[in-house]
This record gives sequence, structure tokens and C-alpha cells, in this order.
Amino acid sequence: MKHNSRHSSRHIDHATVQRILEAADIVDVVSDFVHLRKTGGNNYKGLCPFHNDRTPSFSVSKSKNLCKCFSCGKGGSPVTFIMEHEQMSYNEALRYLAKKYNIEIVEREMTDKEREEESERESMLAINDFALTHFEQNLTETQDGRDIGLSYFRERGLSDAIIKKFRLGYSLDQSDALHKAATGQGYNDKYLFGTGLCGKSENGRIYDRYKGRVIFPIFGTSGRPIAFGGRTLSSRKDIAKYVNSPESIIYHKSNVLYGLYQAKHAIGQQDKCILVEGYMDVISMFQSGIENVVASSGTSLTEGQIRLIHRFTSNITVIYDGDEAGIKASLRGIDMLLAEGMNIKVLLLPDGEDPDSFARSHTAEELAEYIKQNETDFIRFKTKILLNGAENDPQKRAEAIKDIMQSVAKIPDEITRHVYVQECSTLLNVTEQKLMSHMEAARTKYNEEKANERRKERARESIRDIENEPATSELDQSATQAKQPEQVATTSESDKQLAAYAAFMKTYECEVVRYVVKYGVMDFCDEIDENGQQHPIKVIDYVLRELNIDNISFVNPVYQRILKEAYALRQKNWADDIDKHNEILIQQRQKAIADGIEEIRRTAHDLSSITAKEQALIERVDKEYYESITEFNCQYIAKFMMYSPDDQVRNLATDMCIEKHELSRVHTKYAKIETELDRLTELVPRAITELKDAIIGCEIKGIQQEISDLSMQPNADIQHIMDLMARQTQLNEIRKQLAKAIGDRIITPRK
Ligand code: CTP
Ligand code: MN
Repeated sequence: MKHNSRHSSRHIDHATVQRILEAADIVDVVSDFVHLRKTGGNNYKGLCPFHNDRTPSFSVSKSKNLCKCFSCGKGGSPVTFIMEHEQMSYNEALRYLAKKYNIEIVEREMTDKEREEESERESMLAINDFALTHFEQNLTETQDGRDIGLSYFRERGLSDAIIKKFRLGYSLDQSDALHKAATGQGYNDKYLFGTGLCGKSENGRIYDRYKGRVIFPIFGTSGRPIAFGGRTLSSRKDIAKYVNSPESIIYHKSNVLYGLYQAKHAIGQQDKCILVEGYMDVISMFQSGIENVVASSGTSLTEGQIRLIHRFTSNITVIYDGDEAGIKASLRGIDMLLAEGMNIKVLLLPDGEDPDSFARSHTAEELAEYIKQNETDFIRFKTKILLNGAENDPQKRAEAIKDIMQSVAKIPDEITRHVYVQECSTLLNVTEQKLMSHMEAARTKYNEEKANERRKERARESIRDIENEPATSELDQSATQAKQPEQVATTSESDKQLAAYAAFMKTYECEVVRYVVKYGVMDFCDEIDENGQQHPIKVIDYVLRELNIDNISFVNPVYQRILKEAYALRQKNWADDIDKHNEILIQQRQKAIADGIEEIRRTAHDLSSITAKEQALIERVDKEYYESITEFNCQYIAKFMMYSPDDQVRNLATDMCIEKHELSRVHTKYAKIETELDRLTELVPRAITELKDAIIGCEIKGIQQEISDLSMQPNADIQHIMDLMARQTQLNEIRKQLAKAIGDRIITPRK
């Protein structure tokens, strides 16, 4: 899926995205799903669609083009709202909005290689589409289909409606029925083989892969058939029960979950996903009213599948029907879910039952009640399973404790880890302290492994970056020196230090980026040049210049990317855009004045009242005009970034804007409170100073460490130590000058 969404999002042309974002009106978009009531000004309210809301907590701001629930916190731009509400990917949401506003999607010019791959994908999907319909028709429109396929499904308790919903089918028991039908319609052998629908035997004979089997189509998250599973109706042991599509450019088994397309809405709504093993389990449960259910299709869960679920919810219940040995073997796979920050519950079915049989032999209410009563927290479940039979075997017990703490160590959230340690202390009858030390040791090891993986990934990424574009700014001397201690340390040591450095810098970088995103194109102060001329300067220009002067580049990649996108925007259509918008506003202003004057003259009784009324009118219109300009400028960069194809950039930008939305809500109540906007002149330089101060602070610490390390050595290089000390003094001096220097560059606050 990751592959899919990235692949297709690359292809919507930039201008189209822009057109979509200009057209998408939050009130309009949300109104399709929520009944909104105007609450004054440009604000609306309604019942939140994301949680069980009794009083309207969902507010929508037309002017900011944002929505947000003040109770559950969900919301965002029109695109994020649709993503959340309709459980769509970014790209699907864009396409949804394009359709709503009748915007034709222009696909970006693709490279030859992309074009080739795209047309290959398209051809394979088209052939799968054809096969899907073919199998479906076989099931109901041929005698064999009805007698063999349909009657099999009915025997297994499936209703016609559910058969249709999952688009089940039948592949005739003839060697090449599908092949004939497809080639007869002009479909190409190449793709029949590529999708695995057909194969070629050693003697060159072409055959249908699913011959004589019932068909379970597998859909991608946007509902296209990307693969098939075919179940034999024979009980012979020498025949594979299921035959599935092979891996291909449209089917990456490890990134697909059976039933997700049908389940995603329910998963989002209930904020919970139920995981089972097989096709039939999913369909039977769905028929019984448990719709938030997906299957890993017999294999153990992969990271890609977990991410896929995580896109819709953090809560997962895994249903087991195996015996204890089977359960023990699969426990390890669940650790991956923990590591992804999922909340996991486990449900054990009564002996001899699987989800399919259980769903069929119980009413929908019984099923729901059983789940509710019997699902257990995963760690508690694992503890019980591992302890079972180990009570009197100290060796086994010790192993179990270690194993459990290894699971706990993978949970990203510290508080959750501690809660489990406390709980396990009771369950295992071991002191918290002891468990804690086990857990911390496991965590250190786990972190090291992860850091290692990340380092490899980063290395690959940086190679890609270098190949894609030349470096824009080099690290300055001070930053390079700050990292020196790492270069002498071991790799994993240096990794840890770099990660710690990045984590430390995060707050500072975030703050600077926030001002750029929220207020980037605002004129925020005046600057006096060498000739004594006064110029207004924009937040983004100021920030970029300040960073450039000291050659600073951010260490956190997201912030780096945001800054890069902001800079690209500043370079491109920004001035034109603003002019265009200004023109519209000027026209609006003129029209409002003209209309108002006409109205005043038409209804006036005496001349003196006309002048007064006209003056009031112009004042009012002008105030609105300036507010509109501010509003537009204020949101300018943010508005673009909320639609960035880069997930992290988009999410951060949206968060930053929502935050403003919340602030302004308070401000309307206490009108006198100064807004951030009023204080930019003071806040932006302060953020920069603090950033620089943090960098220098880190470097000083590094030098101090190095000096103390060196002075421990018996034959240390005295000269080197002296140099370091000199540098340290110099840095301390710079630190002192910093605030002052920045103060000097800004002369007069602009009003
Ligand atoms: N599976 C597979 N190939 C097999 C056996 C199983 O791909 N040879 C996958 C299928 O996705 C199947 C899942 O593993 O749905 C679970 O297997 P199983 O429980 O045997 O199948 P069910 O779906 O329960 O099918 P049925 O109830 O019809 O036996
Ligand atoms: Mn089964």
C-alpha cells in the first residue's frame, strides 16, 4: 500500500493539486457528512463525526478553511478531513475532492520509465477487473457455477448479499475458459501471465490457474482487484487448498490485508480492527455484523500490514483459534505490533472453533458480547501463557520473565511500559525494580538494533539524495565541530549522539519552522540598509537569511524538508499569487463601497447623514480589506504545506495551523490578548537566537567533554587542548553577542 499511494500521488500534476486546494471549501466539504449550524462570523458547529458526540463540539472555520473537534481533537484541512472520515489515502482524498468540484485531474508528466510501469500496472489491473467480472458471472450465470460454486458458498452459510459484497466467484472447471474469454476480448497474454491468472506448462500449454476453484478476490485499499485466492472444492490432501496470485508490481502480499477495503469504514468508525487468519473468517464475521475485520491470509503479520492497519486505528484485537503450541509460536510476531505503538488485545476462541464456525453458530449479539467479555490485554495474555507450566521450574520461569520484558521493552510509550512493568510485577510475583532492570536492558539492546537499521536506511537515503540533487547548504564550521566527538566514537555511539543531538534541537527547529509556516510571507519588521533606506522584510526571508549567515542547516529531516518547500514557494509563484489575490480583494472592496454608497443614497433622508454613513461604510470595508490581506498572507505557506505529498510535512503543517485555530478561539473571548501575530517582531528573532544558542551550547559541551577526555590521557597534546580552550572562550563570547547582534539587525518594529 505504501508503494501504491506513493506511486500514484506522484502523478497528480502540481497545478491540479493547487486547483483542488483552492476549490475545496471546508464548510462545503464537511457539510456533506455533518449538519452544520452557523455560530457567527465565519464559524460553524456540528456534532463530531469522529466520536460519539452529544453536544456539538466540531467547529469549522470557513476563513481558515479548517475544522477541528475540541473534544476528540480530530480534524484538519478539507483533505485531511476526507482522509479521516472516508478512510482514504492522501491521493484518494485529492481525487475525491477533484470529483466533487468537477476538477479534471491532470496527471503529471511521467518519465518514460514511470510511464511504462504505470501502463503495465494499468494493464494488469484492467485484466484483473475483467477476470473479476468473469468469475462473478460464472458463479451465477452458468449452470456449473450455480451447481458447484454458488451451492458451496451457500452450504457454508453465506448469504447472496455477502457473496456480492465480497464479489466471490467461480473459475470453471475447464483448462482455459478464462484465457479464451480474455484473449477473445483482446487482452494480452503478457498480462494474463503477469497477474498469474494463467500459466504455461512445460509443454507450452496455456492453462487457467484457478480452474475449478471458488474465487476470493483481493482488493487494494481503493477497491481495485489486485489479486485472487482460489479455494479448491476437493478434499484431496495432495491438492493445495488455496492457490493465490503471485507477487507482481500490483500485488505485494506483505502490504495487503484481505477484507480491508470492505472493513476500513467500520475500522475507522469503531477505532478498532479485528485480525483473523482466513478469507472465510473475514466473510463470516462480516456477515454476522462484525465489519471491522481483516485477515493476514495465513501468513504471519508483516510490518507493512501493521502500518496499513495503523493508518485507520491504533487498536487491534487478534483472534486465535490455534492450540497452545500454535499460539506460543505466533506470540513473537505480535511484538511487532507493540513496536508500532498499537494497543493489542487477544481473543481466544473455545476449543475447536474458528472465527468462521463461531460466527455461524452464534447470533450477532452473542458474537459481539463474546468479544467484549473475552478479549484480554496482550501482555497479560502472554504472561499467562508463558507461565503456564513454568511455575515450579525456575529456569523456565526466568526465561519467561525475560521474554515478557522483551515484549514490554518494544512499546514506544514510556508510561505504558511502566504500567506493564507494575502489572507484571504482580502477575509474576517479582519486584518492580527487578523487572525494570530486565526491561531497561532489553530496551537498550532493542534501541541499538533499531538505531543500526535506521543508520543503514539513512545511508541509503542520503545516497539517493545526493544522486537526486546537489547539496544546497553545507554544514558550517561550528556545526561540524560540534559533531567531532562522534567521529572518534564507535558507530553506534555516534548514532546515539546524533539522535540525542537531533532530539535536543527538535524544539528549537520546530519553533523556527512554525513561524515560517504560519507567518512566512508576513512583513514583520523593517530593516535599514547601508544607505539608510528602510525596507520591510518578511518572516521567511528573515529566517532564511539568519540561518544562512551562520550556515545553519537543521538536523531533523522533517524540518529541513519543510524549510526547503517553503523556500521553493518563496522562489516561485508567490508574488504573482499575492498580486492576483490582492486584485480580487481590491475589486471586492470597490464593489462593496459602490454598493454600500448606492444603498445609502437610496435610503437616505438628508444629506448630512449620507456623509456620516459613507464614512462609516468605508471604514468598515477597509477594515475587512486589511483583515483579508492579513488572513491570506498569514495562511499562505501553511495552505500549501497542508497539501504537501510528504506525509510528515503535511501533518506538521496541519497541526501548526490547527493550533492557531485554537488560539484564535480564545482570543475572540478575551479580545485584548495580544496574538502571536502582534508579537512577531519579538518572537521570531527570539526563536532564532534560541536556536543558535542551542547549537553553540551543544558545541561548547562537546568541547568541554573533549578537553576533559584529553586531560585524562597521560601524554595529551597540550597545544590541542589549548586550541580547544581558546575555541571555547570564543564561543562563549559569541553566545554573549548573539542576542545583541540580532537586536541590532532589526531597527524599527513595523506597525
Ligand atoms: N492459505 C493459503 N494457502 C493454503 C492454505 C491457507 O493461502 N494452502 C491462507 C488463506 O488465505 C486462508 C488462510 O490461509 O484463508 C487460512 O487458512 P485456513 O484456515 O486453512 O483456510 P480458511 O480460510 O479457513 O478456509 P476454509 O474455512 O474454507 O477451510
Ligand atoms: Mn476456516
